[in-house]
Amino acid sequence: MMTHALAGEQTRLVSGSTSRSRPNGRRISKRSKVVIATVISIGLLLALVHLAFPSTFALRSTPNKKKNVIFFVTDGMGPASLSMARSFNQHIHDLPIDNILMLDQHFIGSSRTRSSDSLVTDSAAGATAFACALKSYNGAIGVDPHQTPCGTVLEAAKLAGYFTGLVVTTRITDATPASFSSHADFRWQEDLIATHQLGEYPLGRMVDLLMGGGRTHFYPQGSDASPYGHQGSRKDGRDLIDEAQSNGWQYVGDRKSFDSLLNAHGDNVTLPLLGLFADNDIPFEIDRDEKEYPSLKEQVSVALKALEKASDEDEDSNGFFLMVEGSRIDHAGHQNDPASQVREVLAFDEAFQYVLEFAKNSDTETVLVSTSDHETGGLVTSRQITASYPEYVWYPQVLANATHSGEFLKKKLVDFVHDLGATGKLENFIKHEILERDLGIFDYTDDDVNTLIHLGDNANAIQEKLNDMVSFRAQIGWTTHGHSAVDVNIYAYTNRKTTWSRILEKLQGNHENTEIGQFLADYLELNLNKVTDLIRDTKHSLNFSATEITNEVPHYDEYYHELST
Ligand SMILES: *[C@@H]1O[C@H](CO)[C@@H](O)[C@H](O)[C@H]1NC(C)=O
Ligand SMILES: *[C@@H]1O[C@H](CO)[C@@H](O)[C@H](O)[C@H]1NC(C)=O
Ligand SMILES: *[C@@H]1O[C@H](CO)[C@@H](O)[C@H](O)[C@H]1NC(C)=O
Ligand SMILES: [Zn+2]
Repeated sequence: MMTHALAGEQTRLVSGSTSRSRPNGRRISKRSKVVIATVISIGLLLALVHLAFPSTFALRSTPNKKKNVIFFVTDGMGPASLSMARSFNQHIHDLPIDNILMLDQHFIGSSRTRSSDSLVTDSAAGATAFACALKSYNGAIGVDPHQTPCGTVLEAAKLAGYFTGLVVTTRITDATPASFSSHADFRWQEDLIATHQLGEYPLGRMVDLLMGGGRTHFYPQGSDASPYGHQGSRKDGRDLIDEAQSNGWQYVGDRKSFDSLLNAHGDNVTLPLLGLFADNDIPFEIDRDEKEYPSLKEQVSVALKALEKASDEDEDSNGFFLMVEGSRIDHAGHQNDPASQVREVLAFDEAFQYVLEFAKNSDTETVLVSTSDHETGGLVTSRQITASYPEYVWYPQVLANATHSGEFLKKKLVDFVHDLGATGKLENFIKHEILERDLGIFDYTDDDVNTLIHLGDNANAIQEKLNDMVSFRAQIGWTTHGHSAVDVNIYAYTNRKTTWSRILEKLQGNHENTEIGQFLADYLELNLNKVTDLIRDTKHSLNFSATEITNEVPHYDEYYHELST
């Protein structure tokens, strides 16, 4: 492979120059000078190529017309999230200051994120900008500002002969995956979104592989209503998991059946595949029980192998389009939970690295583009909490000491309050179990403890207090529980030289988020307008009453991510 050839050339170049400068002044023949000069020139040339293009750039000899695109969305990850995760990683592994994340090494530009109706976007408008290459309003799922369904990159790719997949860590019906695979006036129409994702709309099934959380919108309410779980929330009583299996979908609903795919390296996946590993979100990485839930990287590895295999076995395939979302970076931002966020970012970086290796080893032309829909939390890696001038510090060890999220600990504390309620025991539990054991905080004040006692079973207030105790001690600042308008980063990689020039031409520097969607469409030679014409009759509005809206809208951009059941 090119990597090894390059490394070899560089080694020879170095030893060549060493021998030339040997102090004994041994005469070097004209012929060796020519050889050395040639070696140096080739070496320099290769070194230049090496600099100009991503490392281990694969120059393949066999032409292969297929293309694979893996598009990554780091939901809610702004530049400060990278700074925080990078410094945290260096700190916990005792790495030098030039040790950077895998993503950092593929930085090419930044994206402006506003939506059609606000300078601060939500994830629905953000994802619709990527999926349809147009600006729409906050809440819009694959529809334009006039609520007309717009053809998406995923749909157009499927129609053009690509296999398609979506892999996330939140609900598969949540805004980002939904905007690629469904059309709805509002993001909270998740029951409707699930039906589109399974093919119930004018185009039929467009997604070959769906993996993540969000089982709740695929089966009805009532604990005995379905064999697939106990927290179903479909209002129409349908069991889409049963229906999907009758329609030929392979369903995996737990770690055990997922592992049978993972261990077989995706070999026994039969597309279409529906993998739903949690009723709601897959737990934060910091809380994730690996015996129960797969990691993002594991999900991605099965998805890549399954899509690659399907594409290899199908003569008419043009390759695949896979969207991967690090969904819960956003949730940690909403909750102002820095200890959870650094783990989410690092887990995403691992998944990105896995795909990078896949692309480097692939004979198929492959493009990776990674960006965020917006920043969440107004995060900064410093904090001035008093009028006096602050010290220039922040303390990653505080985040390292925390072993659970505020989201996890609020449930643990509330359960304890409900079970026991005895104040004396509660104080000990808060001090020794929650603060010392789970958060590694020993310098708590009486005030901290009293506040937590008095919050009783107010789960959200407890979460807020615990996350603030961590942020305060780490000297991490937050300006909002919502999103912000700061620009977000763009990262990219490809294993083809000419394609790399094209990526830089289109995405290097500062761009509107819609240009990223347009790049994906152009690169795959897709015509989104044609698809828009085909989906005019999609049912995207609900016949809801005013009370239904009031019931649903609080979940519009769920900040606490409670199940709506
Ligand atoms: C996948 O293969 C493994 C081992 O060959 C087998 O145990 C498992 O049942 C298979 N799973 C499916 C879904 O076919
Ligand atoms: C982290 O926890 C250790 C005990 O495990 C404690 O000694 C130390 O003070 C804690 N560090 C911070 C920054 O809270
Ligand atoms: C919408 O609801 C109204 C009253 O609730 C009903 O009369 C109408 O038929 C419904 N329309 C559709 C398309 O379901
Ligand atoms: Zn959000």
